[in-house]
Amino acid sequence: EEIPLELHKVRVVQKLHLVPIERRLEALQEGGFNTFRLNTKDVFLDMLTDSGTNAMSDNQMAAMMQADDAYAGSQSFYRLQKAVEEVLGKKYYLPVHQGRAAENILSKAYIKQGSLVPMNYHFTTTLAHITECGGRIVELLYDEGYVMNSDHPFKGNMNIEKLEENIKRHGAKNIPFIRMEASTNLIGGQPFSIQNLRDVRAIADKYNIRLVLDASLLGENAYLVKLREKEFNDSSMETIIKTMTDMADIVYFSARKLSSSRGGGICTNNEAIYKELEALVPLYEGFLTYGGISVREIESMAVGLYETLDETMICQSPEFIRYLVNELDKNGVPMLKPAGVLGAHLDAMDICSHIPQTQYPAGALAAALFLISGIRGMERGSVSNQRDEYGNETYADMELVRLAVPRRVFTLSQIKYVIDRVSWLNQNRTLIGGLKFVYEPPVLRFFMGGLEPV
Ligand code: F0G
Repeated sequence: EEIPLELHKVRVVQKLHLVPIERRLEALQEGGFNTFRLNTKDVFLDMLTDSGTNAMSDNQMAAMMQADDAYAGSQSFYRLQKAVEEVLGKKYYLPVHQGRAAENILSKAYIKQGSLVPMNYHFTTTLAHITECGGRIVELLYDEGYVMNSDHPFKGNMNIEKLEENIKRHGAKNIPFIRMEASTNLIGGQPFSIQNLRDVRAIADKYNIRLVLDASLLGENAYLVKLREKEFNDSSMETIIKTMTDMADIVYFSARKLSSSRGGGICTNNEAIYKELEALVPLYEGFLTYGGISVREIESMAVGLYETLDETMICQSPEFIRYLVNELDKNGVPMLKPAGVLGAHLDAMDICSHIPQTQYPAGALAAALFLISGIRGMERGSVSNQRDEYGNETYADMELVRLAVPRRVFTLSQIKYVIDRVSWLNQNRTLIGGLKFVYEPPVLRFFMGGLEPV
């Protein structure tokens, strides 16, 4: 496999600890076999998420020093607003403390009892906010989006025929917006093509429905468009990103991902939309020039947005993921393919084919991997699903363990350690046993839920 090469150097480091396996077993027992509940003092390689854990650049850190503390009218805010306009092409920007806060505001403003939101695929927090407001969602991937072992370049594409069928069936007036998620997270960080976004836009225009773009993983989607969509092979990141955001009426994002900082935002060029959402920001987040984000993070967000346009920065995580996925694949480990962004995704349904879905194979695999290696991944399967409106368990389309590769955090030798340990676990897969819930919170249960071996 082609070795990925970094165009940065490491200048600040943090010491890691590799604790004995006995301690890791205790930590799992204390944490309800849920990797969210581990203390990082017990974790060796933290591959839980890239959210808020991407490495910051020297320029981002420097910008934090010049932050302007002011409740209202902070210069830091105006610098960020300019960055949003220059990078995302939207002149109205509403700051919010993170991505799900944007989802809260959009849901509060637009979702009513009986609303339906068509989307390529849900994200956990998106679905929770929409259902909280009485709405429902419908997922419209093509069949290829659900194929585990595939070489399809754009598994995040939305099925256009199904979109139109759903609009006709439910009525455009019951559809407050269509949502497209860049680098569709829960199906393995899989991108959509710009051609597909154009097709979705045409239908949105035909039925006069707003198009909302979740841009949390926009830079990565743009990078894969450059690699995989012929029309854009020679385009700049700037052109590709603007081409995507230009098509959306509303763009929202988690800055914990996009821009390697913290915070988030909602942006638009439509003044009427801005006015509809404006009042909700001071209500839930904070005044309109900080939105619950510290001014230091606002500065690093602005710099991070510009850095997203730098291909040598944005390529690092996807290139490491490609290496990790393809090496594991060569070793016979069942993986979600092709390699996407955000992380490598293990196919727990296959690796743990001896564990029924009722016993959470992905949760079991994540716990087992931590036990044998100190690597912390994230369950992205049925534990991460929410119960339906009648309280019934719903089973995930895919049982995945995500091994996130935050930007510029790990070295290649650490990635090789991951390859070694995951391959060993796959060879000894029958040692892994199923799990059951002993504590199940009513909302977003995967965060704090407790499980134990069956
Ligand atoms: N949308 C997408 C596509 C996301 O990946 C996330 C977060 C959010 C919205 C919510 O943003 O966390 O800032 O409130 N994804 C993280 C993850 C949590 O680990 O994949 P947030």
